[in-house]
Amino acid sequence: MCGIVGYVGNSNCVPKLVKGLKTLEYRGYDSAGIAILKNEEIWVAKDKGRIHNLEDMIDYKDFVGTIGIAHTRWATHGIPSKNNAHPHMDQNKHFAVVHNGIIENYLELKEQLIMHGFSFQSETDTEVIPMLMEYYYQKDNDVFEAFKNTLNELKGSYAILIITPLLPNTILVAKKNSPLVVGKGNDGIYIASDIPAILEYTKDFFFLEDEEKAIINNDVTFYNEHFQEITKNAKYIDWEMDAIDKKGFEDYMLKEIHEQPEALGNTLNGIVGLDKAVRFVNFSLDKEYLEQLNHIYIVACGTAMHAGLVGKYSIEMLCRIPVDVEVASEFRYRNPIINANTLCIFISQSGETADTIAALKLARKRHAKTIAISNVFESSITREADHTIYTHAGPEIAVASTKAYISQVGLIVAFAVYMAEVLDKELELCHDIQKELLALPNYMEQIIENNEQYYELAKKIKNEHDLFYIGRGNDYYVAMEGSLKLKEISYIHSEAYPAGELKHGPIALVENGTFVFGIITDSNISEKTLSNLEEVKSRGANIILITNQNIKKEHVINIPNVHPILSPILSIIPLQFIAYFIAKEKGLDVDKPRNLAKSVTVE
Ligand code: M6R
Repeated sequence: MCGIVGYVGNSNCVPKLVKGLKTLEYRGYDSAGIAILKNEEIWVAKDKGRIHNLEDMIDYKDFVGTIGIAHTRWATHGIPSKNNAHPHMDQNKHFAVVHNGIIENYLELKEQLIMHGFSFQSETDTEVIPMLMEYYYQKDNDVFEAFKNTLNELKGSYAILIITPLLPNTILVAKKNSPLVVGKGNDGIYIASDIPAILEYTKDFFFLEDEEKAIINNDVTFYNEHFQEITKNAKYIDWEMDAIDKKGFEDYMLKEIHEQPEALGNTLNGIVGLDKAVRFVNFSLDKEYLEQLNHIYIVACGTAMHAGLVGKYSIEMLCRIPVDVEVASEFRYRNPIINANTLCIFISQSGETADTIAALKLARKRHAKTIAISNVFESSITREADHTIYTHAGPEIAVASTKAYISQVGLIVAFAVYMAEVLDKELELCHDIQKELLALPNYMEQIIENNEQYYELAKKIKNEHDLFYIGRGNDYYVAMEGSLKLKEISYIHSEAYPAGELKHGPIALVENGTFVFGIITDSNISEKTLSNLEEVKSRGANIILITNQNIKKEHVINIPNVHPILSPILSIIPLQFIAYFIAKEKGLDVDKPRNLAKSVTVE
C-alpha cells in the first residue's frame, strides 16, 4: 500500500520521481504528490486522483530540483483528498515527509503536539511525523537528533523519507515493517518501495531491514536500530526493464495472462526434470523430519491463499500429511496449534503482505519450521522465513494476480511431489505429475490462443449482477479464484461454492437466467458435479462448463486433460480471460481496480 520514491543527485529529480510513481501506481492510486528542495525551500505539488493529475499540475520549467521525494497513496486514515495526499509538512515548512505504513499511536501523538501549539491540516496518521521532527528540532536545533527522537515515538509500520532545507542535500530514510530499497545510479542515489520504480537506473540494490535507517546525500550511510553505523552489501537483481513494459498489450493484466506459460516454465526450471526427482537449489528436507511432521499449515491471503488450497490438495493426496490452509489475518489472531512438529508455508507474491508476515513471525516464535514462497527477491517474507522458494513469474504489475497464481500453484505442486519422493510415497504418480508439469506450458498456450470464445462469453455476461462458480476438490478452489478475479476487476458480485453445497441454501438465489460456471476436471467426481449443474439448470440457470472431460452441454469450454492435481493451472485461464474481458467491456481500469492496491502492507 502506497508507493514512495526518492532521489538525490545531480540531475533534475522531477521527471524521475513522476516516472517512479507511475511504476509504483499499482501500490495505491487515490492521490499523489512530490516535494523537492529549491532555493532552500520545500516546494510541494500534490493532488487527489491518479498520477496523471499530478503530472498535469506540475510546471516542469519551474518545478525543478536535484533532491526530492514522492508518494502515491492508498488511503488508510482520511479520505482521498488533496489535504490528505503526501508529502506532509510541519507548520514551519522545515520538513517534508512521505510515508508508507500506519502510525498506530498517531492520535495520542497528535493530541500532545496540539497541546504544544501544533496545528494539523490533514486527517492522516503521517502528519505527526513532520510535526514531531519540528517539535524536536525546536528543542535541540539538531536534525539528526530530531530524527532519532521522532522514530523513538512512532509505533506501527513505516517506510519514511524526509527532506529538509536545513540539510539541503540529504534524505533521511527509515524502515519498519514496510519495504524500502536503495540503489546507487550513475547520477545519484535512488530510494523506492519496490525495485521496478528505480530499475532503470541500477541493478544493485540495498534492502533495508526493519528498524534500519539511512542517511543519503553524496553517498549512503546505513544505521541499525540503535543508530550505530553498519555496512550493507548491495545485491544484484537480474531483472530487465522490458519485464515492466506492457509490450504492446492494452493492459498489464492481459500481458501477464499471456506470460503465464513462460512464468510457469521459469518457476519450474531447475526444479522439475524428467530424469530426476524434484530438487530445490539450496534447500532440502530430510525423511526423518518429514516423517515426524504432524501438521502442515499453508498461510496466505487472497489469490495466494487459493494457490495454497491447491497445495493442500496435492500434499494430502501425495504425502498423506494433514494440511490446513488459513487466511493470514485469521491465523495470526486465533492462537493456532503450532509446535516443532508443524511445518508452516507462507505464500506471498509481493512478500510484503502485512498479515502474512505477522503470521510467519508467530509460527517462528512457536518453533515451527517456516518456508516462504515469494515472487520478489529479498522481500520481507523471505528474510523472515527459515527457507525461501521463489516463483519466477517476473514482476507482476496488475493488481489482479494471474501469472503469480499459476507459478505458486506449479511450485507448491512441485513441492508436494518433492516431499512425497523424499518420503518414498506415490512414486509412480509423482513421476507422471513431473512429466505433466513439463508439458503444461504448451497446454496453456493452446488455451490462451483460443481466447476469442471468452470474449464472446464476456459480452453475454457483462450486465449480470450475481454469478455462481461451482466445483469439487481442486475445481472448487479454482471456482474461488475465478470468482475473486471477477469481483475485483469487473465489480460483479459472485460466489464460489463447493458444488454439493448449493442445495443447502444458496440455490435459493438461482433464478431464470442466473449464470453458473461449473468446473469439472476430475473424472472420479464429474458425475456428481454434473448432477449439481442439472439441479441449477432445472431452476433456470445458464450453465457454462469448463472441463477436460467429454461432456456435452450447451456451453462448454474444453481444456486439455491433465491429472486433477494440475488441472487448476489450466482451468483458471478461461476464467481469468472472462473476468478481464467483462471488465474491459464495462470500460473499467483493469490494472487498477477501485479500492485495491497490489501490495497490502497494512493489516
Ligand atoms: O502479495 P501477496 O501474494 O501476499 O498478496 C495477497 C493478496 O493481496 C493478493 O493475492 C490479492 O488477493 C490479489 N489482488 C488477487 O488478485
